[in-house]
Amino acid sequence: MVGIYLSGTGNTRHCIELLMSLVSPGSEAIPIEDPEAIPIIRENDEIYLAYPTQFSNMPFMVRDFINKHNNIWSGKKVFLLTTMGLFSGDGTGCAARLLKKYGADILGGLQVIMPDSISDCKLLKKPVEECSRIVRDANKRIAGVALSISSGRYPQEGLGFFAHMAGLFGQRLWFYNKTTGYRKKIKVSDACIGCGQCVKNCPMNNLSIADGKALSAGKCAMCYRCVSICPKQAITVLGDKVYAQCRFDKYV
Ligand SMILES: Cc1cc2nc3c(=O)[nH]c(=O)nc-3n(C[C@H](O)[C@H](O)[C@H](O)COP(=O)(O)O)c2cc1C
Repeated sequence: MVGIYLSGTGNTRHCIELLMSLVSPGSEAIPIEDPEAIPIIRENDEIYLAYPTQFSNMPFMVRDFINKHNNIWSGKKVFLLTTMGLFSGDGTGCAARLLKKYGADILGGLQVIMPDSISDCKLLKKPVEECSRIVRDANKRIAGVALSISSGRYPQEGLGFFAHMAGLFGQRLWFYNKTTGYRKKIKVSDACIGCGQCVKNCPMNNLSIADGKALSAGKCAMCYRCVSICPKQAITVLGDKVYAQCRFDKYV
């Protein structure tokens, strides 16, 4: 058993690592951008795939990964874990349907509420104490789910018809275009000092430094990792101003 995950601000990484440590102590979870991800999936029959929900959908980077390597899923048993700020409808269902098309067996799905990762939208920001409480609640849920998985009962969150309708009508009909490709524009303000933290951490290798400033090559996965770590809060994606950098390590 192995875990593969995309995580921008650390929420999903925490959840998948916790779940795996409880279900199968000693098993590893590796990031989707790791070149070892493909050979490791090939070697394992049971895959736990985790990602943050984006507009009740999977991030394009995850869709792209599944499609590009469509020949590795046949016969795999896949459990899906998604994290979300509030509402995802069928966050897990989106990947489940695609993986089934490529021959995977879906064991189940778990959708966990975590702090919102969008740092440049004031409306979504919650105080650190509230985020910490959300993380504690998530930890308890994951512990409960791990117990039931260990006795062979997999949750089926986000996989049914009603969840599909909720995701579709609640968000995807209106925001689908945001997740059908990589984002061309991320905004870098004059506050950028060209330190290269964003370049080092981008899972898409989308950023470089040109003329002392971060520059995007147009392949942003909207994970918000760069936004969350920039020491000058100089990067934005959906909004125009960073209100509070969202990072899992702030909440524990
Ligand atoms: C571009 C974008 C879109 C998002 N859309 C949703 C959404 O539709 N529903 C939701 O509940 N959370 C949404 N979120 C919040 C994230 O899914 C959530 O904070 C997640 O835990 C982040 O995980 P990470 O830290 O592993 O990246 C969105 C976040 C981003 C960056």
